Amino acid sequence: MSITVRSFAKINLGLCIGAPRRDGFHDLRTVYQTIAAHDVIRVRIAKGSGIEIRCEDDRVPADESNTCYRVAERTVALLRAKGKVLIEIEKRLPVQGGLGGASSNAVATLLALERALQKHIPGAEKLRIAAEVGSDLPLFLIGGTMLGVGRGEEVYPLPDLSPTACVLATPDVGVSTPEAFSDWDRSMARRVSSPAQPRQNRSKLTTSSHSARMNEFSRRLSSWLSGLPGKTGEPVTGVPAGGRGRAESPLLDLVRTGIENDFEQVVFPKHPELREVKRALVRCGAFYASLSGSGSALYGLFRSRKAAEMAAARLRKQGIAAEVTATITRQQYRTRIFD
Ligand code: C5P
Repeated sequence: MSITVRSFAKINLGLCIGAPRRDGFHDLRTVYQTIAAHDVIRVRIAKGSGIEIRCEDDRVPADESNTCYRVAERTVALLRAKGKVLIEIEKRLPVQGGLGGASSNAVATLLALERALQKHIPGAEKLRIAAEVGSDLPLFLIGGTMLGVGRGEEVYPLPDLSPTACVLATPDVGVSTPEAFSDWDRSMARRVSSPAQPRQNRSKLTTSSHSARMNEFSRRLSSWLSGLPGKTGEPVTGVPAGGRGRAESPLLDLVRTGIENDFEQVVFPKHPELREVKRALVRCGAFYASLSGSGSALYGLFRSRKAAEMAAARLRKQGIAAEVTATITRQQYRTRIFD
């Protein structure tokens, strides 16, 4: 039996990078939001043994370095499953785009494999496998609007924002996430290494400026959350992706807190064309535009689908690859995965 799954992308609504940790990762705070743009994953169990990955895009590895492979390996071991696992990846999302494509593909593989093997994996086990394979995987077990903390793998569902029209701009640039984190560390170290600071104070200063920034980000998020209507389980009304209506405050309020993506500070100087794409999104009417994750994809949020379509058309005329999509709620995420 072949199982087909949609593997949705995410964007980051703000991302604050904290201090480097002993395990080589960085603490961070972010709001993840799933969007309708997706890859397609097909999983089938055949005769034989092992794991085989097929993808027409040769930038996607077919070996153990692929996150889908690593998830499948762990799932097969956990369930003591027999047979050969065939994973087909239909790539539509950019590779190394900051949209969580590879992480989402891996979670889609996990969910498809569970169905293909007709076995149930408890939620906690799925979360464990996901977090082991990568920081960005657990969010795809939840979907909708989420708070991400720790190294990004600790995820908490937030009140869902209503579907909002979104333009994804996908410049043909690959950004390495580990490299972007190292660039960030260097830029933070430079900020505190002014000649006025004695050398022995610098690491203390770096730590305190990291925590001050993280605290400020958390303060903005909690003031936003405390202003939201008290109902849970229903999306808080936002800008409808379909067009009319003005009930737009929760998402607008969030972006108006001034949340930003720290990666822009190190990725834009290296790739100035990405800063230009962000400016173009704003010029085309986005009420908020940002790099997603470490990039290179950027997104703009719009008041209506029509406005987003006009903006995408204008961007394409300027030679920028752009497509219209929309944010999706947790419920939409869950129902559309297997649709
Ligand atoms: O967890 P994931 O495999 O996606 O991380 C890839 C790399 O990105 C890590 O090896 C690390 O260098 C960097 N990273 C980090 N801090 C995080 C997440 C990722 O430094 N919170």
